[in-house]
Amino acid sequence: MQILRIDSATTGEASVSRVLTQAIVDHLTAQHPEATLVERDLATDPLAHIDPVTTAAIRTPQDMHDETVAAAFPAERAVLDEFLASDVVVIGAPMYNFTIPSQLKAWIDRIAVPGVTFTYKDGGPQGLAGGRRVIVASSRGGAYEDGNPADHQETLLRLVLGFIGIDDPVFIRAEKIGFGPKVRDQAIADAKAEIAQL
Ligand SMILES: Cc1cc2nc3c(=O)[nH]c(=O)nc-3n(C[C@H](O)[C@H](O)[C@H](O)COP(=O)(O)O)c2cc1C
Repeated sequence: MQILRIDSATTGEASVSRVLTQAIVDHLTAQHPEATLVERDLATDPLAHIDPVTTAAIRTPQDMHDETVAAAFPAERAVLDEFLASDVVVIGAPMYNFTIPSQLKAWIDRIAVPGVTFTYKDGGPQGLAGGRRVIVASSRGGAYEDGNPADHQETLLRLVLGFIGIDDPVFIRAEKIGFGPKVRDQAIADAKAEIAQL
């Protein structure tokens, strides 16, 4: 069993989502001591925004790759293979300016790949990456009830994960992080209590 931990918070020691991804990983590895843990820190080791070369490497058949694209292919494919090899994926997803950090979007651009994690069948999209468990640690400064039109973070993740076949991601939320230390600590404690139930 492989657990993949993805962090994307750029707030270092102050990060709430990192406290939660750590707690989730601790919980999962206690349940599954035999599991292999793979960690990808998108803040300290960021993936570049996709460009013409990486887009071609990710999304065109290998026999169409010129020399430059072929040189970029192994590193791009490695991000996808790491995801595909994982049974459980833990994603640290803070809300930055109403959406996910661009570092996390760059990772999504590598794993939402036509012909590999989704396809079109009978005129509609079909996800091909189901069968793995995804747990999202969502941290936000304010509070966003379901359906709040300002939320382009959890809604985006739910959409893209569903698009690639992961219909049942679990979201562990810590909200109102900007409301002062007391509220922040309570939000973290509540999220940790939820993690203990996973
Ligand atoms: C660059 C930046 C942008 C932010 N934008 C928002 C926002 O749009 N809405 C919100 O509720 N909180 C916002 N916040 C607050 C964060 O969501 C909150 O601090 C959360 O804990 C971030 O996760 P982290 O602690 O893992 O970095 C922002 C924080 C940062 C650093």
